[in-house]
Amino acid sequence: MPARRGVGTKGIVEILAHTRDKIIKVVTASRDSPNQNGPYLATKQQPHRPSPPIYCRTPPEPSSSRISHSHTHYSSHSPPPFSLPSRPCVPQKPSMSTTMDTTDVSRNATTAAALFGTSTGGGLASLLPEVQTVELLVAISIFVTIHSLRQRRSQGLPTWPLVGMLPSLLLGLRGDMYEWITGVLKSRGGTFTFRGPWFTNLQCVVTADPRNLEHLLKARFASFPKGPYFRDTVRDLLGDGIFGADDEVWRNQRKAASLEFHSAGFRALTASSLVELVHRRLLPVLADAEAGGDAIDLQDVLLRLTFDNVCMIAFGVDPGCLAKGLPDIPFARAFEDATEATTVRFLTPTAVWRAMRALGVGNERVLQRSLAGVDEFAYDVIRRRKEELGDAGRRGSSRSDLLTVFTKMRGEDGRPAYSDKFLRDICVNFILAGRDTSSVALAWFFWLLGKNRRVEERILEEIEGIVAARKAVDAGGEVEEELVFQPEEVKRMEYLHAALSEALRLYPSVPVDHKEVVEDEVFPDGTVLRKGTKVIYAMYTMGRMESIWGDDCREYKPERWLRDGRFMGESAYKFTAFNGGPRLCLGKDFAYYQMKFAAASILHRYRVDVVEGHPVAPKIALTMYMKHGLKVTLTKRNKSRL
Ligand code: HEM
Repeated sequence: MPARRGVGTKGIVEILAHTRDKIIKVVTASRDSPNQNGPYLATKQQPHRPSPPIYCRTPPEPSSSRISHSHTHYSSHSPPPFSLPSRPCVPQKPSMSTTMDTTDVSRNATTAAALFGTSTGGGLASLLPEVQTVELLVAISIFVTIHSLRQRRSQGLPTWPLVGMLPSLLLGLRGDMYEWITGVLKSRGGTFTFRGPWFTNLQCVVTADPRNLEHLLKARFASFPKGPYFRDTVRDLLGDGIFGADDEVWRNQRKAASLEFHSAGFRALTASSLVELVHRRLLPVLADAEAGGDAIDLQDVLLRLTFDNVCMIAFGVDPGCLAKGLPDIPFARAFEDATEATTVRFLTPTAVWRAMRALGVGNERVLQRSLAGVDEFAYDVIRRRKEELGDAGRRGSSRSDLLTVFTKMRGEDGRPAYSDKFLRDICVNFILAGRDTSSVALAWFFWLLGKNRRVEERILEEIEGIVAARKAVDAGGEVEEELVFQPEEVKRMEYLHAALSEALRLYPSVPVDHKEVVEDEVFPDGTVLRKGTKVIYAMYTMGRMESIWGDDCREYKPERWLRDGRFMGESAYKFTAFNGGPRLCLGKDFAYYQMKFAAASILHRYRVDVVEGHPVAPKIALTMYMKHGLKVTLTKRNKSRL
């Protein structure tokens, strides 16, 4: 766009000339000052123009006209933006007609000589290097600033030398980063390329375009693995487990785990473990809080619930985070610290964290210590399980947790299929996948309900209908407080299913996810991806795209998921909270069951109110935690409501 180019170039010229004039004025003033003497006095006799030239000239017309007329031709009557008698200060654009006035040149030269006292062989010449340096620095800074800011139009954000778009990212991080990403992506039509500082891992393509999502998650799945960068970064925590694995290692685990997740034994285990946790742990904790009138952090309580639950499923043991008094459990603490320290690696140049690991300092020291805690727990459970299975070989084992199932697997030679290390990796990966995702989704759900009581009313009506149907069959058999929802009843809670999906659409537990492209690719929207490019897909943004969900995309409306009162799922490439394609979340069905069971059990008994003034904002992490938790008070439901 010539007009823009003209403005920029002439703008630089003008600022440059202006700066130069200022320097000249200072110099001239000091020369004319009665307190000055020596070389300055000598030059006073020389003819010179009162203002401008050292090397450059300021055009005489007002600055506004110069800026707006990008194609102005400078003639002998209209001096060029700058002239270069001896040394160039800024290169001239060949396209501009910059006819040089020879009189001006000689006048400039004379003036320069006069000013710098060349005729006397000294004086201001001693100032020359400083003035040149200042001019040069000012010129470069101005040029770089304007050039960087102009990148905003073509690249979405200003791009600075050395640090790339990092300053904008840091500004974005100060507020709500996900909203900031959303703003940038919308302004770029759904996809943009982030240029991080040179020599860092922060170069990537970010997208929220469903066509691109389908391309990378399904159509060209093999071209978009997790990749070596992700795997190397998470390897100390996740080893060769499913989350970081690709190719055969991933395929084998996926197949085995998928069989297990769909087995009757696993379904029975998930149902029974939830009843145990919700009725023996969660509800008593809530009852205590309600009785004492205390505000509690509902997010913390839910995190404890799902951590205990996923450990029961993966390891077959209950760590007891949700026990009375909500104790600090060393394994849970170690797991949390190890996850956070691993996340920090993504923000640290690879060479730096590797060096820190070798030296055992800083974040890497924390990671090593917390990994030792995770491993101690995991290997202890594995050892005891093997002993138990050895005995059970004689008596038979009724366990159906993942550790037991994978421990029992045999290779073709009849020997155990997996080493202890691999068993540890499998369990740690499943705990990571399932520990916080459902709980943070529930926390956002309860917060949204507080702001949308109409939705809560409809959920209660649905639950009442189910309870009423049960009463009709089993006339008043069960005491209300003891009411335990059955799997087929949970399945019938379609409006609740829609309300949870809607919460996940707006607050996906995994707000952004990552892939690495292993061969040159082109996205359906035309974005070119060179081999090795990192791709980030922004689930949070996708829930806020008018082009995907319509003008009311920011509203909490479970009805958008219903057709004739029945829940209707959406394409996994529009609603990406559970990922899509071959790597679709393995725990999706279980997660819905868990969330519905817990939410219905709480809502049936309590009205949940967020404490007034409690700040709610997302935390910047791999999982969408609420930064300050969710402080709530509970009120027992009126019996007539049940
Ligand atoms: C609301 C709850 C949940 C959400 C939103 C969710 C979301 C996701 C997402 C986005 C991924 C893709 C991650 C990636 O590849 O980088 C994923 C993968 C996975 N999820 Fe979930 N998840 C949830 C609950 C669970 C639970 C409870 C479990 C298990 C108990 C689980 C097990 C897994 C596993 C094993 C994978 C890896 C699949 C693979 O790579 O093949 N998830 N989940």
